[in-house]
Amino acid sequence: MDLAWLAAAVFVLLWQSVECSRAVKEWTYAEAVGQSEWAEFFPDCGGFSQSPIDVDTSRTLYDPSLAPVQPLGYGQYGHEPFTLSNSGHTVEMPLPSWMGVAGLPWQYSAVQLHLHWGNGIGVATGSEHTIDGQSASAELHVVHYNSELYANISQAKTERNGLAVLGVLLEAGSETNQAYAHILNYLGRIRYAGQKVAIPAFDVQTLLPKDLSHYFRYNGSLTTPPCYQSVLWTIFSEKVKISHSQLLKLETVLYSSKSTEPEPRLMQDNYRVTQTLNHRLVLSSFFPVSVKIYTDGEISAIVIGSLCGCIGLAVIVWFVVKTIRSTSSWDVLPSVRPPPQSRTNDVAKNLKPDMALKTASDPEKKEEAAPQPEP
Ligand SMILES: *[C@@H]1O[C@H](CO)[C@@H](O)[C@H](O)[C@H]1NC(C)=O
Ligand SMILES: *[C@@H]1O[C@H](CO)[C@@H](O)[C@H](O)[C@H]1NC(C)=O
Repeated sequence: MDLAWLAAAVFVLLWQSVECSRAVKEWTYAEAVGQSEWAEFFPDCGGFSQSPIDVDTSRTLYDPSLAPVQPLGYGQYGHEPFTLSNSGHTVEMPLPSWMGVAGLPWQYSAVQLHLHWGNGIGVATGSEHTIDGQSASAELHVVHYNSELYANISQAKTERNGLAVLGVLLEAGSETNQAYAHILNYLGRIRYAGQKVAIPAFDVQTLLPKDLSHYFRYNGSLTTPPCYQSVLWTIFSEKVKISHSQLLKLETVLYSSKSTEPEPRLMQDNYRVTQTLNHRLVLSSFFPVSVKIYTDGEISAIVIGSLCGCIGLAVIVWFVVKTIRSTSSWDVLPSVRPPPQSRTNDVAKNLKPDMALKTASDPEKKEEAAPQPEP
């Protein structure tokens, strides 16, 4: 009996430790449990609807029913400060639940925003989504949950259409972006994983591009473990510019290690590589800009080409019609053609045959028809 209890206790302990290691399984982008190994520990990461993706604008489908995205309450930040934190994977800022987004198939409530970026060396990489194979330097994600169908984020995050994320591609320019300064100016206060800082609240909508009507839409996943395939993605077409020094700050100030760890690890290249599309559709709310614009020369070539084509076709049609007409007159010789029918013939048919003959051989009529010439 004691043995059975002991066995049960050991089993429970083992089970708990397994569950525990599963729940807090550490992952990274390029070190132990790097992104190529995520799927071993987080099965959804190996699914068929993963994010991010490359948006190939020659294959997106224009959907005129996609309305402009409408941020709700993004500007009503009140007097409570926001909190910025270093999660060890990114810089994150929780959003009040009265903020949300409309213009999607459901109403979604805001949860948090965070960023992904590169390492500041060489070509511009750092964004998660790419457009026609081109990376941007960084990417902002504003995460929402479906508050029409679910009670909270924990319930929604595993369900299809449970989450909606707005994705903004960032690139470096010459001017300081004052909206992003609200976040980037405080990174020095949260250099190590687990650190938090209260920052003055600001209008979150100023982080988004001006044009909220041009975007790409597809069904995908969280871009970090556990990679739940529950996200309705909106990737804005317009990129937002931050200054080179702002970008450099993002790329070099934060550590993914705790302050107690002996060797600090810079938080860099915290973006996932693009995933296979696997038969998914990517919709666009606008006609793709990559649609070919013809030059004047090309237009004249097309007009002349079409004209020549039309004339050629007319000649062929004329020739074919002519051929058919001439062959049909050879087919049916005049001698075997049925005699022309007329009203007088109908009358003649009703007469008795002899009378008809008599009419036909009427000498007076013949004279009338062919009068004799005067001698
Ligand atoms: C989320 O909602 C469910 C269902 O109402 C509830 O059971 C759960 O406790 C909630 N979780 C949180 C974190 O609020
Ligand atoms: C996303 O999936 C839902 C089904 O859950 C479908 O109705 C919707 O059309 C899909 N959206 C896109 C953009 O493919």
